[in-house]
Amino acid sequence: MIKKVSAKKILDSFGNWTVESRVELKDGTVARASVPSGVSVSGFEAKTVSADKAVKNIQKPINKALQGLNPCNQATIDKTLIELDGTFDKSKLGANSMLSVSLALCRAAARASDVPLYEYINKELGIRNLKLEIPELMVLLFEGGKHGSGKLAAQEFMAIADDVGHGLKLYETVRSHLKKMGASISVGLEGGFTPDIEDKEAVEILNYILNGNPLALDIAYDSCVNKNLNYQYFIGECNTTSIEDPFGSDDWESWVEFTRGWGSQVLVVADDLVATNPERLEKAIELRAANAVIIKPNQIGTLTETLAVVKMAKNAGWKVIVSHRADETNDSFIADLAVGVGADYVKFGGFSRGERLAKYNRLLEIQRELK
Ligand code: PGA
Ligand code: ZN
Repeated sequence: MIKKVSAKKILDSFGNWTVESRVELKDGTVARASVPSGVSVSGFEAKTVSADKAVKNIQKPINKALQGLNPCNQATIDKTLIELDGTFDKSKLGANSMLSVSLALCRAAARASDVPLYEYINKELGIRNLKLEIPELMVLLFEGGKHGSGKLAAQEFMAIADDVGHGLKLYETVRSHLKKMGASISVGLEGGFTPDIEDKEAVEILNYILNGNPLALDIAYDSCVNKNLNYQYFIGECNTTSIEDPFGSDDWESWVEFTRGWGSQVLVVADDLVATNPERLEKAIELRAANAVIIKPNQIGTLTETLAVVKMAKNAGWKVIVSHRADETNDSFIADLAVGVGADYVKFGGFSRGERLAKYNRLLEIQRELK
């Protein structure tokens, strides 16, 4: 039984205030969870409130509404939060307040039931016989757009890797190549390098030094200053096998046309387009506007809704990619989430910055446990 829900302000990786929830169960189990925030935020994400307001919302109305409930009933907990908020976009309580509590309670329930978090999440997802394994990685190598500081217009230049060891090798290859070039090895918000080069050159360099290892791009079109990047060239000539947000999140027609043309060859990944929102995903599936979806729990605000989106994507045969945000905390919940829901890929950034490594390290720990 839930005894008490409380919260405090903590700092995220950008030095912004965010919220960390703490839940205490009657049996003495304690668990915490904190929430990240985005820099290139989709217009379709649930709304947040300030960290101060989030703390107040958690300590007063949320605590009052959840006290006495069974922590093992995630659906009821999240429904209670949604009803208490009462808005369509979570603007009253804030998606940040709600998610930190939703995740902390899931963690507490797993702890109280004495099962690993990923296994507990797997049970919550309710897909029978889903094999627990480590997803492939989209490892961040170069960062541009709102996340970087140089000329790169697209936001993320990643490589597909089988596991952490493979990803680390690719990351290290890129770092030593940049050093040899005399280029900067400073990193951006998510631990990717930020060389002062153009997008075309970036894709060509990565294709060359990584010997044609498959690349994944996140254009983040809504925040991208170059609206004329040559996707055909990136796919056809440079081994790009995944493109995220190649068009604006209102431009359904371009998405549909692109997926019709390229969807059999590459992953067309919806992040800002869908914003982990069940209604947006339903429309995207109906229109065949993409074939893969980014899952960011803080875009929607509760674990139950996040799991519903994953389930819907899987039923439609879409690939599932669990992702961090630009402004992160050291919470590694998304590593357990990715394994628990059987995600195809994870996006945890580069192999730099503690808040990114927290997720990779948790993945390694899970990998050891699964063996
Ligand atoms: P964000 O970036 O956290 O700034 O939204 C991540 C992404 O677009 O994938
Ligand atoms: Zn994105």
